[in-house]
Amino acid sequence: MRLQFFILFAVAVLSCHGQIVDLLFPSFSKTSKSLLNTLTKNPFVTIPAQISGNVLTTIIDTLAKLPDAATRYLGPGLHLPIFSSDRNWIDSLGNIMADYTEGLSNNDAVLDITQLIHKYGFESEEHEVETEDGFLLTVFRIPGEGTPVFLQHGLLGSADEFVIAGPESGLAYMLAREGYDVWMGNARGNKYSREHVRLEPSQAIFWDFSWHEVGYYDLPAMIDHILDTTNQSSVKYVGYSQGTTSFFVMASERPDYNEKIEVMIALSPVVFMSNVRSPIVRLMAPGTPFIYSILNSIGWYEFLPDDNVMRSLKFVVCGLGPISDIMCGNLLFLIAGVGYAQFNFTNLPVILGHTPAGASTKQIVHYGQGILSGEFKQFDYGSENVEKYGTEEPPSYAFEKITAPIALFHSEYDWLAHPADVEKLSKKLNNVIDIYKVPEQQFNHLDFVWAIDFEELIYTRLHKIFTKF
Ligand SMILES: *[C@@H]1O[C@H](CO)[C@@H](O)[C@H](O)[C@H]1NC(C)=O
Ligand SMILES: *[C@@H]1O[C@H](CO)[C@@H](O)[C@H](O)[C@H]1NC(C)=O
Repeated sequence: MRLQFFILFAVAVLSCHGQIVDLLFPSFSKTSKSLLNTLTKNPFVTIPAQISGNVLTTIIDTLAKLPDAATRYLGPGLHLPIFSSDRNWIDSLGNIMADYTEGLSNNDAVLDITQLIHKYGFESEEHEVETEDGFLLTVFRIPGEGTPVFLQHGLLGSADEFVIAGPESGLAYMLAREGYDVWMGNARGNKYSREHVRLEPSQAIFWDFSWHEVGYYDLPAMIDHILDTTNQSSVKYVGYSQGTTSFFVMASERPDYNEKIEVMIALSPVVFMSNVRSPIVRLMAPGTPFIYSILNSIGWYEFLPDDNVMRSLKFVVCGLGPISDIMCGNLLFLIAGVGYAQFNFTNLPVILGHTPAGASTKQIVHYGQGILSGEFKQFDYGSENVEKYGTEEPPSYAFEKITAPIALFHSEYDWLAHPADVEKLSKKLNNVIDIYKVPEQQFNHLDFVWAIDFEELIYTRLHKIFTKF
């Protein structure tokens, strides 16, 4: 079942954006259409599609109507930057290919996080942490004498995010060299945190969580474990994307934890989402309740699983050769923002070797709800809200309870955390100590962890804040 659905998802994504980005990315859009043709003729795709013919027809029909809806959602307010004003896509394709091809021989793509950390000369530890509701999470550590720093990854990511940029640009290594005690969390459901004291990932109930539970249970459990192990009273927290969303859930729903945070750095904070510019994400948002109910009815609760199925899928979608791998990179840009000046294409094979790391479909749907509502609130169960919350609307997260000192890092080309949404967030928070807009036009969502000039554009500022708190 999963295989069919990922393929449907991929086909849907390709077919949707093919219609809306023609003008923006003529060459890419042509290639993606031919990939779509290849895909639909590929036996891997047609066989499962025959088995679930009805579901397929329903979804394709619905998605075919989305581009119309897109005009409404993308609307005149959507400001799409001109693609590569300073680098012509076709001209630079040769360089990109060369960089990418060079990266293919890098065996970092197949090493796990512990092997990577050892390869680059650091010590590592692996800790198991049990949450109040029984999930067993893995936390990685590069031990150091200094203050503990806790790094929390984004949606579909894992602790790998902070090391796969390599020893020069990986945030975990930079902090470790500085003497910090570096801890990297893993949210429930990702490839390192797929165990539970009673439940199995094959059960629907295992996946019944969104980033609300990550913030409510996982972050407190991991932070307490770090404090117990190190005999410290607080950590410095760095969150990226969903690592910020879940932080704000924790700090508002479990306000005692504010005291345990010396300072929080929010890399691309995703909280208010009315201005999300990513065409794919906007197109998917209105369909999320529908997709969620279909996925639930067929028992597909895990989004982009990292297992053999996922690997074969990557082969079908991305692995047909260098061009299609680069297209996978392009899909990333269509989600994250189209600036690629800071993207290290040599590292793309390594990135694709470690992401996506798994999440629940409910996490995605909860974000979809945020785009539609423009508010930061708990999961909307529709008619079941009264039963769950005692109110017709899901409760909003209480910003007034968040007291930890927070620095917000954002950028112009980030298609997920729009500067206007970040500004809105900054006005709601009581204790913003810094708002930093990265002074580089093309800096996109992914660059907050993997930018070529990460040290200059992110780390220097982050480190300066750390030395003050
Ligand atoms: C833990 O920290 C407290 C307070 O700083 C100190 O009194 C105590 O001796 C420490 N315990 C250990 C085991 O280091
Ligand atoms: C790009 O990635 C490669 C492979 O991980 C790495 O060796 C190289 O140093 C990176 N380049 C920059 C400018 O960070």
